[in-house]
Amino acid sequence: MTKPLNPKIERLVHISRTKPLIPDEYVPWEDDPTSAPFFMPEKLTSLEGLPIYDQLTPEQKRELGRHEVAQVMYSYGWSEGLACLFFNRYLLTLTPDNIEYSYLIQMLIEEFRHQDMFAKSVKRINGKPILPSFLHNYIGNLAPRYMAPSLVFISVLAVEMITDIYGKMLRKSPEVYSVIRKVSELHHIEEGRHIYFTKMFLERYTAKAGFFKRTIYSLAVMLNVYFMRTLYVKKEIYERIGLPNPEQHYQLAKKHFKVKFAEMCLGETIEFVKSFNGFNIITQPLWKKVLGVKKF
Ligand SMILES: [Fe+2]
Ligand SMILES: [Fe+2]
Repeated sequence: MTKPLNPKIERLVHISRTKPLIPDEYVPWEDDPTSAPFFMPEKLTSLEGLPIYDQLTPEQKRELGRHEVAQVMYSYGWSEGLACLFFNRYLLTLTPDNIEYSYLIQMLIEEFRHQDMFAKSVKRINGKPILPSFLHNYIGNLAPRYMAPSLVFISVLAVEMITDIYGKMLRKSPEVYSVIRKVSELHHIEEGRHIYFTKMFLERYTAKAGFFKRTIYSLAVMLNVYFMRTLYVKKEIYERIGLPNPEQHYQLAKKHFKVKFAEMCLGETIEFVKSFNGFNIITQPLWKKVLGVKKF
């Protein structure tokens, strides 16, 4: 399993060691959440673009963003906890003189800091996250323990690419609460390096993958993106902000958000799947149906 030294990974290790981003220093935790106009950019909220959104009061719009961003932050932390479970498992197959071993340790340190930061940000905005469903929990816990490393790495990458799009949009929205913006900025910087490493790592698997494996990789990416998309479109949130007929709005929002998410968030992921020829007669119709992708 020992890999030859790779200068690109050595560089990543060096940056992580010499330029750590410490959430307690980087994020202005003292800033008051009550004076923030928004907690999430309006276009990322599940109802924006539907007629009901225009009927919400400013306070309801703000509350929708607060509940949804709490859900996003909590879910990132949850999925990073699972990723760490896998990184630890994989680490035990390497020797400490391996450069990937060194970078995985750095990733673990950063991911643990991120989880702490996400938990703190949820608390700061007084969020009440809705916990993952039984199925999410079941699959989420099985995969990092037993799935092949290439499949887990590709799943982690899929999640990281989506969180990165959110990170970019959140940090560039001046109307959003400063704590959420800085948390997103920090995460965006460090995840950029994780994505770079994971893509490089995966090339050794995807470059020689045949039709069957490319299909499986493509479907793993698709299912992880589906998980990310369904994170915060929740009936309970519509109940909390006092919408009448929450079930009806939930059904409308699910369809609406699927379209919006495909337009806003899938560019980099689609390019990645294309890079290993992951779209074929089996996967393409599924990507269309499950994620609403129109252009490949
Ligand atoms: Fe992270
Ligand atoms: Fe990461």
